[in-house]
Amino acid sequence: MNNNSLLADSVVDSAAVESASPAVGRSQWSTRLAFILAATGSAVGLGNIWKFPYITGENGGGAFVLLYLGCIALIGIPLLMAEILIGRRGKHSPPYAMKALAAEAGVSSRWQLVGWVGVITGFMLLSFYLVVAGWAVAYIFNAGSGAFTGASGDEIGGMFGALIGDPWVTTLWGTLVLAITAAIVIKGVKRGLERAVGIMMPGLLLILLLLVGYAMTTGQFARGFEFMFSPDFSKLTGTSVLVALGHAFFSLSLAGGGMMTYGSYLPKRVSLGKTVMTIGLLDTLVALIAGLAIFPIVFANGLEPGAGPGLIFVTLPLAFGQMPLGQWVGVLFFVMLSFAALTSAISLLEPAVSWLTEKRGFSRLKAGVLTSAGIWLLSLGSVFSFNIWAEHKLFGKNFFEVLDYLTSGWIMPLSGLAMAIFTGWIMSRAATHDEVGDGPGYRSWRFLVRYIVPVGILAIFLNAIGVLG
Ligand code: TRP
Repeated sequence: MNNNSLLADSVVDSAAVESASPAVGRSQWSTRLAFILAATGSAVGLGNIWKFPYITGENGGGAFVLLYLGCIALIGIPLLMAEILIGRRGKHSPPYAMKALAAEAGVSSRWQLVGWVGVITGFMLLSFYLVVAGWAVAYIFNAGSGAFTGASGDEIGGMFGALIGDPWVTTLWGTLVLAITAAIVIKGVKRGLERAVGIMMPGLLLILLLLVGYAMTTGQFARGFEFMFSPDFSKLTGTSVLVALGHAFFSLSLAGGGMMTYGSYLPKRVSLGKTVMTIGLLDTLVALIAGLAIFPIVFANGLEPGAGPGLIFVTLPLAFGQMPLGQWVGVLFFVMLSFAALTSAISLLEPAVSWLTEKRGFSRLKAGVLTSAGIWLLSLGSVFSFNIWAEHKLFGKNFFEVLDYLTSGWIMPLSGLAMAIFTGWIMSRAATHDEVGDGPGYRSWRFLVRYIVPVGILAIFLNAIGVLG
């Protein structure tokens, strides 16, 4: 019997059913590889290449990398499975997918709140994500113009300051990123998303390998390797675990609606376990390789690995300015960063667009333009955080930092907890088993998602707010 049409016809509200005509007519990825590229494209982003190296640097290297790997394996990957599973079984945009599965499980339709939070989180994330993505695109041109060649640290710091300090220029770059993202999303799953990731992901991987190859020639590769892989636990700070968990969520694109929506386009015949492992592995590999490309260059130039968010916008350009062929290495690096950011940005816009087309029957064009307009307005707050609103702070954080903190620090872990409880305890064993299939993989997943994930998130959380001391 066809489960999906049964679900959709009986439980999803009639407006949604009419306009979305679920099961039949819903777009699907053409191949398993297309889905893997899209989901890996979502996962691999600024988080891997910008954030992971600098938080590893700030948290002392190897020991932090181990913590992070633990969070990915025990919490991140099981949740990635949970989120994609919800999407595939629910066959709708996140709110309706949750609603359908809540009905299947015979629980309150309020569970759709988890779907809503996903869509809204994606919206909020994209509003500041596109600002940093805009810096990355601007830097392709900075690097290409030769502006870094022979420049001093102060000069390069000054260039970065001038870029983010100029609300007009940053708005312009951010708008460009959003426009490209929207154009891809509006074209739809096959003609937009699949094509874009089909070009950008192989490009990204190729450039990344070229850059590691280059890093091997700097003579400091071993030192970079050691920094990342020999753990010194005394270097961890009190917040390192929380940072590692928050980053595992961010990097795997959990709880932002994107993976759920991508899952809803995934055909039933594709094996979830292998696919999810592949995505988690690729995301982790890219982060580690990005570190291996960046730290040797940092050490070879006598720079500081703990430089913070400026690591790739100030420290690394300084190195590009000193090294042979640095102008080209710089261009390649920022092209790679822009590809990574764009393939993630589309997964942040897709949930809202998918929801509007279902809910209101809007065309993708109309839904894409409307959501982008809203995101653009909100993004101004993040643009202004570095210039005209720089002095306006809430608890010592500017608008950009407040959004980042609210999403990664609170909303995403909490909705991860909700997804774990939902797939582990609310959905029937038969339902999740039907999605995941038989085998030891299913049993380990179910154990992790029922016990380890909720307990892990709660412990890290209570610790962060000081309850556990
Ligand atoms: N994973 C992406 C990165 O590392 C960011 C991202 C895309 C994301 N979609 C998301 C984060 C959904 C959270 C939720 O850059």
